[in-house]
Amino acid sequence: MKKVVLAYSGGLDTSVCIPLLREHYGYDEVISVLVDVGQQEADIIRAVERGKRLSDIFKLINAQDEFVSDYIFPLIKANGNYEGYVLGTAIARSLIAKKVVEVAKDENAEAVAHGCTGKGNDQLRFDAVFWAADLDVIAPVRELSLTREEEKKYALEHGISFEAEKRWSIDENIWSRSIGGSELENPAFFPPEEVYQWTVSQDKAPDNADIIKIEFAQGIPVSVDGQSTTTTGVSLINALNKVGGKHGVGRTDMIEDRVLGYKARETYEHPAATILLEAHRDLERLVLTRNELRFKEFVDRTWSELVYQGLVMDPLYDALNAFIERTQERVNGAVYVKLERGLARVVGRESKNSLYSSTDVSFETRQEQGQKGQGQGIVEGFSIYHSFQARKFSEL
Ligand code: ARG
Repeated sequence: MKKVVLAYSGGLDTSVCIPLLREHYGYDEVISVLVDVGQQEADIIRAVERGKRLSDIFKLINAQDEFVSDYIFPLIKANGNYEGYVLGTAIARSLIAKKVVEVAKDENAEAVAHGCTGKGNDQLRFDAVFWAADLDVIAPVRELSLTREEEKKYALEHGISFEAEKRWSIDENIWSRSIGGSELENPAFFPPEEVYQWTVSQDKAPDNADIIKIEFAQGIPVSVDGQSTTTTGVSLINALNKVGGKHGVGRTDMIEDRVLGYKARETYEHPAATILLEAHRDLERLVLTRNELRFKEFVDRTWSELVYQGLVMDPLYDALNAFIERTQERVNGAVYVKLERGLARVVGRESKNSLYSSTDVSFETRQEQGQKGQGQGIVEGFSIYHSFQARKFSEL
């Protein structure tokens, strides 16, 4: 019996894949896997109902905790950011693909499949994980080069009905909501308010700001406003999405360079991501040395590019994580973030690992000749050499 495991989302693309895998590719059993990474509950329910009806075997896997602990926390430590994008869709794909591979191994399937087209990044992310697992990889929508219209017709012929056509293409998980398609494909088109579901617009945000305290332990957020005991990573992020969204924090409208080179217009919302990334980066500035910070900027950017490309199986990804882990040992402390009218601004920070010294830096105290040879006279000497090469140049 020929078995294939499909990464299922409940949408049109992956739904037409099910009959295609039987009729066009000759599989006897289609096993659909829906991975819950924090999509909206109503979408999950609809997808489960449809997936069960169409597939031979259907599996729903709740991977929210794993998503947060093994993917989002490392992302926070790496200040994950690709051209201004917080990498929500990108990083979830690697996990979804991994879960699909696990099912394929359990079920002794010979192939895995996804419903991506040939235009985006997601095909590359799924393929990368799938190929590494030594299974046949099938991408029906890409291989048959189906248009949306052809898909709809084929779906109808197979009793797959889609209620009112959705205007936007949405991908959602606990870290971010990506909104694209339709008129948004015109980069000059202003996103209407309706595309945003998690955030209010700046002018609807309340006048009164909230200041929240976020505590980090080794680079990981462990509590908000002191409530650590009841807080798991998932509930912490959900809580920040709520309070951030209320203040209109975390909207992005950008032009993005896809891996294939296409420029794409993308809109996102991600309140918790904005708050946590702002806070984490700020705390690093307090506890890491200048040299560490400069070097880590490059590490973080390379890390983000690998995640964007879906290359988390590249040995470089592990190596970068090892470096990042080491730096995070001292990223402990609290950051105070003010949420106000679309902005999340850090207004205070403290840490037992702080490299800041008010007596050293203050303008209020004299720079005395200290025990360790610091002092006014020493600085004057340093300063003469500070611009040495520039001075030589100006003398030519
Ligand atoms: N551009 C983002 C990425 O490649 C998001 C893609 C999904 N967007 C969507 N609206 N379905 O990661």
